[in-house]
Amino acid sequence: MSDYQTITVEPVTPRIGAMISGVNLSGDLGNQQFQEIHDALMRHEVIFFRDQHMTLDQHKAFGALFGQLDVHPGSPGPEGHPEILVIHADENSNHVAGDSWHSDVSCIAEPPIGSILHLNTIPEGGGGDTLFASAGAAYDALSDTLKAFLEPLTAIHAGEQVYRGRYKHQGIDDSGKTYPESEHPVVRTHPVSGRKSLYVNETFTTRIPQLAQKESDAILKLLCDHIKLPQFQVRFKWQKNSVAFWDNRSVQHHAMWDYFPEVRSGYRVTVKGDKPA
Ligand code: SIN
Repeated sequence: MSDYQTITVEPVTPRIGAMISGVNLSGDLGNQQFQEIHDALMRHEVIFFRDQHMTLDQHKAFGALFGQLDVHPGSPGPEGHPEILVIHADENSNHVAGDSWHSDVSCIAEPPIGSILHLNTIPEGGGGDTLFASAGAAYDALSDTLKAFLEPLTAIHAGEQVYRGRYKHQGIDDSGKTYPESEHPVVRTHPVSGRKSLYVNETFTTRIPQLAQKESDAILKLLCDHIKLPQFQVRFKWQKNSVAFWDNRSVQHHAMWDYFPEVRSGYRVTVKGDKPA
């Protein structure tokens, strides 16, 4: 018998990703349905929904079931909705959010537990998929010798090289601003599942302070290249009104910008987290 009574959960790959149906995210979820969505997220690390119609308030209400919502350190939300991150690219864009492997905002001291992205416009000619990688599966595949070497290490995650000047086109002058920088363990343990995963990413992670610079660069490259191997990934093909909900504690993602100059647009809410352990 299925573990789920109120939703249908179909794994997309055995390692990561599941499609959820039988739920309307804009409505009131009962305790049981909330718990089952939470369980599916813990088990599959990223979950996908189709045909969801949510206002910004409904999107925030769904996210708030999982914890307090975060406000992005660089990008302002729409008027009256500071907790909403606008995801938008068109013919005027010179970058898109998430166009390299990362775990969201890992530069802050308590990075978000999860992010929920709802897209309302997708490129007509296709493209704009999001790739997700299980950093837990990537950790499991390392040798015991490398795992033991990584265990006591920490890494610096910085926002400076990611965000500086990025929101100029929105009229934001960040010249007086300091972007967050934090030190996190290289291997973190998921607080719910107890599973270990690699917690370094090529967007935010700049250095392993216990190593010489050349050693740090080489180890970070090795780990970031390893996480990107296709066997740890699921690739999500968006439709209008799809939702993806990923667990930033154990998943990295990459938004593919292969659709320029077409439009891809939507909104994300981000659920606050705690200090990686
Ligand atoms: C992001 O949240 O990093 C962007 C993901 C996406 O646009 O697919």
